Amino acid sequence: MKVLLVGKNGQLGLSLIETLPVDIAGKTVDLKMTSREELDLSIPNQCEKIILEYQPDYLINAAAYTAVDLAESQEKLTYKINADAPAVFAKALKKIGGKLIHFSTDYVFDGNQSLPYKTTDLVNPLNTYGLSKVQGEEKILEILSSTEQVKIIRTSWLYSAWGNNFVNKIINLMKLKKTLKIVSDQVSTPTSSISLAKFCWSLIKSMEEGLKSSNLIHFSDAGIASWYDFAYAVLEIGNDIGLFNLNTKILPIKSDAYETLALRPAFSALDSSLMLSQLNIEPQHWRICLRAVLNEIKNSNIS
Ligand SMILES: NC(=O)c1ccc[n+]([C@@H]2O[C@H](COP(=O)([O-])OP(=O)(O)OC[C@H]3O[C@@H](n4cnc5c(N)ncnc54)[C@H](OP(=O)(O)O)[C@@H]3O)[C@@H](O)[C@H]2O)c1
Repeated sequence: MKVLLVGKNGQLGLSLIETLPVDIAGKTVDLKMTSREELDLSIPNQCEKIILEYQPDYLINAAAYTAVDLAESQEKLTYKINADAPAVFAKALKKIGGKLIHFSTDYVFDGNQSLPYKTTDLVNPLNTYGLSKVQGEEKILEILSSTEQVKIIRTSWLYSAWGNNFVNKIINLMKLKKTLKIVSDQVSTPTSSISLAKFCWSLIKSMEEGLKSSNLIHFSDAGIASWYDFAYAVLEIGNDIGLFNLNTKILPIKSDAYETLALRPAFSALDSSLMLSQLNIEPQHWRICLRAVLNEIKNSNIS
């Protein structure tokens, strides 16, 4: 089975490589991977050419413009990468019959709800990043929704042992400062990119086995948290496993006391229950997944 992984150096890309199964439904995986240097999503010709040449059975698009605040001043580039490139992928895959696994975000929602969002809930993004991801979803579905060639997986608050994510930022800040003020009125679910990668491989296996599932999917780890809860858990678990020995004070603050360029939803937890039950996957609580990632950081001396 030929799989093309686009965005091999991102959090999700690295986790997909780390969790690559030996085979999927009895088929050996022939994995081709690209970095930004090897395939630039802002150049449409490159996006089409690689598909027509390599003829993948699956294209996993783990690349995206993910800098939420910077996107406000880089609108054109954000749309090119998050909306136009996925549409080019979808068109080329329709021609050759390959399948697209694409990722989207909880930031497609406005956060005015207090129950986890279902895939049937209306989108209403608050920032350019969210708008570009919605446009990406819409363009892909316009091209592929009548086929069985697409899965769009929305996820939330992705982090991993690597990269410039919340966990690594908090660890660095905790080492530098005695007190940290962290937003406590934005709530969603921290999701380990390892959990998402494993889910992605299980989803492909289910597609190979002919299991029916919807085109649009929600996946996150279990439970909910505010950024404050998340930061507090990093401190607590990091101390517990001996990753560090810190007594940083973490104080909750409101979003309006921490101005950012992009607005963010107050509540954007995703309801993953339908998909997890369809695939018979037991969701793990985000704190369990966080402990595993902090252990990975400890064992690889990243931090
Ligand atoms: N991070 C989150 O909190 C979060 C939350 C919800 C959903 N998601 C979605 O989950 C997916 C994976 O996110 P992630 O956190 O793994 O992202 P990430 O770590 O920021 O990685 C994104 C990757 O995309 C690549 N990329 C950016 N511009 C590119 C271009 N023009 N051409 C080719 N590659 C380009 C980057 O390349 P370089 O390595 O060269 O920079 C990077 O490897 C994305 O679709 C994202 O929207 C993320």
